[in-house]
Parts: sequence; C-alpha cells; structure tokens
Amino acid sequence: MVPYFEFQNAVKLLCGELSLERIAIELELMGASKPLMLSDAVLAKIGTLETVVKAMAAEGVQPAATFTDIPVDSSLAVVDKIAAYYREQGCDSIVAVGGGSVIDTAKGVRLVLSQNKEDILSLSGLDNLVRGKHVPFIVVPTTAGTGSECTGVAVIRNDANGVKMEFLSPYVEPDAAVIDPRMTAGLPPKATATTGMDALVHAIEACTCQQANPLSTAYGTAAIRAIAENVEEATRNGSNKKARFAMALASTMAGISFSNSMVGAVHAIGHALGGVCHVPHAVAMTILLPHVMRYNLSHCGAAYAELLPWLVGVDAAMATPADKRAEAAIDAVVALGRSLNEICGIPLTLKDAGVSTEAFAKVAEVAVNDGALIVNPRAADEAQVIEILNAAF
Ligand SMILES: [Fe+2]
Repeated sequence: MVPYFEFQNAVKLLCGELSLERIAIELELMGASKPLMLSDAVLAKIGTLETVVKAMAAEGVQPAATFTDIPVDSSLAVVDKIAAYYREQGCDSIVAVGGGSVIDTAKGVRLVLSQNKEDILSLSGLDNLVRGKHVPFIVVPTTAGTGSECTGVAVIRNDANGVKMEFLSPYVEPDAAVIDPRMTAGLPPKATATTGMDALVHAIEACTCQQANPLSTAYGTAAIRAIAENVEEATRNGSNKKARFAMALASTMAGISFSNSMVGAVHAIGHALGGVCHVPHAVAMTILLPHVMRYNLSHCGAAYAELLPWLVGVDAAMATPADKRAEAAIDAVVALGRSLNEICGIPLTLKDAGVSTEAFAKVAEVAVNDGALIVNPRAADEAQVIEILNAAF
C-alpha cells in the first residue's frame, strides 16, 4: 500500500428521482438566485435542459442567462467567452447540464470567475492560484461515465496548438452534483455501453494502480459491482430507472475513486488514441481494457484477483480456484464487452474503430509521455505499447 495518501470529495451529491428539484434550494442555501445555465445544442434541442429548467422554476428559480453553444471538443476560447457573458448578464452562479465537455468547460469558467481573471490560460500551472471568491457551481451530468462531476480537474483544449490542457484546482470542483436517473434516460445504447465501460476502467485502474489506497478502493469496488450488475440492462432497456440510477451512481463513485488514486495504461494509451486517431475516449477504453489487464497481469495479479467477487459475485468468485481468480477477472471483463457488443454493436477491436496499424508508432510515442502511465502497475516502453495495440487490433 502507498505509505501516505490523501482523500477528498467535497462535492455534495443530490441523488435520486427528485434531485433536480433540489437545485433551486441548493442555490438559495449558497445565497444565489441568478444562475447562468450551461449546456450544449443537442441537450437544448431534445429537451434535457428544459427538464432541468422546469424543475428549478417549480421551486422558484429562473435562469438569469443561458449559453448552449458549447461544442463537443470545447476550448479555452469558449471558456473565456462564457466568463465574459456571465459578467455581462450579472449572473451569480453556474448550473451546468451536460456530459464531459460541458462540465469541463463550466469548471474552467468557474475557475476564471473565482480567480477574477479574464482568460483561463493565465491560470495554467499550479502555483499561481490564490484563494478566490466563491462562485456557486452545480453540475447535472447527462452521461454516466466520466465522473467529472466529482473531480478537481478540468481538461480543456488549447485552440492555439490543439493540446488538451489540464487545470487542477479545488476551484474547479463543483459545490454540488445532481445524480438523477431522468438525465440519462435518453442516452442511446452505444453511448450507454461505452461510457459505462469508461467508468469501469476508472474503477479498475483506480483499484490497481500504484496510488490505490483503501478509501479509493472502497469507492472503486462498489462502482465495479454496480456496473457489472447494471450496464447490460441499462444498455438494453434505457427506460429502466433502477439500472440508470445504479449506473449514474457507479460513474460518480468511480470518479471519486480515481480522482483520489489515479488511472493507468488504459487511459495513457486511450488519450493517445484520441489525440492521434480521434477514437472517442469511451470507445478506446472499452477496447483497451482487457488487453492492458493481460499486460499488467504479471505485476498486479493479486489486485485483479480481489476484484473478481465485485465483477462476478461472491459465489462465482469463491467457486474459482484462488490461483485462477486474476485471469477470471480478465475473462469477466472480456465477457462483458462481448455481451455489450451483442446488445448494441459497440466496437471491440481497434480495426473496428477505424484505427490503422500505421498509426501505432505515433500513438505509442504519445502514450509513453502520458502522466497516467507513471502509476500503471507495470512500466511500458513504446515497443510494449505497440504490443498492446497489436493485441487490441
Ligand atoms: Fe476515462
């Protein structure tokens, strides 16, 4: 175990069927009444944003302004534009409704406003942040995967060079996150399956990387069980509120877990596949997980074996000989991927995701420089990353 660790989750979680209606009350408790609503054009069009606004209006709070022009791959310029809009409109709080891009953009806006700056680029790096003013900030995730609602990091693209920048600060952590099954009810099957697998990767890597600690593992294992039990049903039957709620909670628990531990090679290689080949993050996670687990097996077999009861249930795990449990955990992950592929056709190979082997050298070069690789249970050089990519092709 790590000799020293810290654990923090200061985000208040509003969970369950009536949690959207609590947003107005939370704002009031923080002395805010003029929220800027942030979302994207799709969520505005399909009515998801309206559901949130109506729930707030029912409790007496109207948005002071709304901004829905956040693109899928948001940028520093979008953050600065929204911060200026917030000031122009005289807002006093932020409510962000969306997936990873909306939430990370909102985190960036919160950071700029709390530090009284005009642009977020001036806040890059860890050293120049002082105690800022409190800008009430509530997030409503509309996917169950990123866990971004509970992490103290915002990942935002720098338009100038295309590089994704990480802003680490307590000032990006929301005051409250709303985990309401209504928000993911309309998520299509493929997105449900792959974002669910992203959450599974967060939990498995958090429990097995070199910075795992007992508290992050408690959240991680609980997330693994909830995902193993519910991701197929949530994918097959999106209107099943029980499965949707379990997946939303699991995603949040996995987020709390990895933000207090770390991730590993699945994310390092997945980030590189995203940057070089534009493979969507959750798709890369789904494809890579079993191959990275096989690569890591010689270095963290005991940790994988301990995950088996959470993946397949206690009875099936106990019926597996102790020396076979680590491999059985990998088999369980493979079986889950295949089952999701049968239900909704998600890709399980890099070839099916449109990646060409010619890109592997560049992907490997980028992956070995990714911070997530440092804490992976087993070190990997470029040749070893290429081995993993070949196995996943
Ligand atoms: Fe992820």
